[in-house]
Amino acid sequence: MIYQSEIKNSIAVFDSGLGGLSVLCDLCKLPELANEKFFYFADSKNLPYGDKSAKFIFERILQIAVFLENLGFKALVIACNTATALAADEIRKIVKIPVIAIEPAIKPAVEISKNQGEHKTIAVLATNLTIQSERYQNLIKKYAITEKINVISIACCGLAESIEILEKTQQQQQINLLLNKYLNFDNYNVNFVDAIVLGCTHYIWIKPQISEKLHKKNKQIPILDTGKAVALQLYKKLVENNILNQKNSISNQENKCYFFSNISPKKIAELNLVANNLANMKIHFFHENF
Ligand code: DGL
Repeated sequence: MIYQSEIKNSIAVFDSGLGGLSVLCDLCKLPELANEKFFYFADSKNLPYGDKSAKFIFERILQIAVFLENLGFKALVIACNTATALAADEIRKIVKIPVIAIEPAIKPAVEISKNQGEHKTIAVLATNLTIQSERYQNLIKKYAITEKINVISIACCGLAESIEILEKTQQQQQINLLLNKYLNFDNYNVNFVDAIVLGCTHYIWIKPQISEKLHKKNKQIPILDTGKAVALQLYKKLVENNILNQKNSISNQENKCYFFSNISPKKIAELNLVANNLANMKIHFFHENF
């Protein structure tokens, strides 16, 4: 149950599950957002988005956006690349509050490849739906093709889900298995990649594992995400709309982040454990039947 008084002047952040928590960490780290309060909604019942039908996910995302606006939040952060790729334009048409979306870091990766890269090739790890989307294909045309940079797009089916496995050993085994499959650059030749883009917010949690796997192949490749850029964009939008909270509006910094999800209360407790492992932040968890 969410209390209206708590929501007033707060920001809604959402994703299919725990991926967007990595973005929430970036929002909380930005000093300019120190007086903001965040409510994070995980649509865990429908995880993973990336392996489902585009129509189903599109409709679901619009429902969530309207639901969050109706609750009374002052701004909405889409902490999900898949949701952005499928529905950010439509969300902006139907809700009146400022909407901040996330996008794979193609542009900075292209800059690295263009200026320092030897092989003019980047790789993007994202969900199947993101890679299939028109928005993603347009991004590649806009930033990579114009600069004659090759893009290897890798749809990592099952990877987001594996990051949410509760049992640690099983989780690590599954992640390892999938990374061996998806980072099998022998198919592409790792020496021909100048930068890797994490185009799904879940994958930010396994950046060390990705880095280690590439390192084994004797290659230090920059691995990029856009969490900080989202935080800066949120700050800019709050200022533009004159809705940035004033100093000391949060009496207790421990009460800054709330997390709600539509899976059973028992499962929420489990999710809380995984999230605490990942985010190392004080977050208040509760169940919401949406
Ligand atoms: N974390 C999401 C993204 O950034 C979605 C992952 C999923 O549910 O498939 O794309």
